Amino acid sequence: MYIVVQKARNRIIRKLTEIPFVQAKSELVYQKALKKHLVNLPVLSTSDRTLVETIKRDGIAITSLSALGIPSNPRFFQVAKKLMSEIPKSISSEKNEFVVHATSQQIMEHPEIFLWGVEQRLLNIVENYLGLPVAYQGVFFRRDIANEVAIQSRLWHVDLEDKKVLKIIVYLNDVNDDGGPFQYIPQSLTSTVVRSLKYRPRYITEEIMQQALSPSHWKSCTGISGTVIFAGTAGIFHRGKIPLADDRFAVFFDYTSRQPRQPFYSTLTLPKENLRSLVKNLSEAQKNCVFWQQHDKI
Ligand SMILES: [Fe+2]
Repeated sequence: MYIVVQKARNRIIRKLTEIPFVQAKSELVYQKALKKHLVNLPVLSTSDRTLVETIKRDGIAITSLSALGIPSNPRFFQVAKKLMSEIPKSISSEKNEFVVHATSQQIMEHPEIFLWGVEQRLLNIVENYLGLPVAYQGVFFRRDIANEVAIQSRLWHVDLEDKKVLKIIVYLNDVNDDGGPFQYIPQSLTSTVVRSLKYRPRYITEEIMQQALSPSHWKSCTGISGTVIFAGTAGIFHRGKIPLADDRFAVFFDYTSRQPRQPFYSTLTLPKENLRSLVKNLSEAQKNCVFWQQHDKI
């Protein structure tokens, strides 16, 4: 019931934000907030700065756990690989399902996975990309099933939860072009397609996208297990290409600002008491990324 109310509220807010006057006003507020926060942005190493510049320019940056070299990477990867073997292939073919998520209980039993998403180094990268304080929207541990279902995130779309959304995607198995890679349309071409399709938030089928832009411009993020993709998903058309050969295993970490365009948007699937126990040894700054809503403050 709560989810239904949230979705209805978000629909109304989305409609309101399409009014030109409201758009102009919210753009002003946004620009002001960016300017104000500029002096507070954490300082990055040269390589992380390059990473952020790449995401800002192309909408995507692809790297790997080993290139990132975060100390907790080996443990995170080991635990994630273990959890991978515990995700059943249990989907209902009648309901057109195509993904199995790790349950809250499984995430709680493997805390290293949730906690990797609040590594301070990653938060610093996210904050520099967003230009604003970070809201960690949570982790999705996914098994994308090799079947024919072509709905929702398997169709082209632009995320609309916030002006900027960053997703960090870690592949847990090798993903080639038949393995269900994350696909995107580079940022500069996305603007062209938005104009030519007069795009309003919705899912776009393969056929319609083909008419708007030749598939030769569609990019597939292929890579071996341990590949890390930073995707600015509010600025690029993207989708999960249907896996043909094998199921794809990946972990998605989601981030927005703390004033998302959809204020009732929250993907955190874990109960508050679980979140509290997960973050108990983290710094105040990290906790604030998890409990970012005013009424959440701990
Ligand atoms: Fe998306």
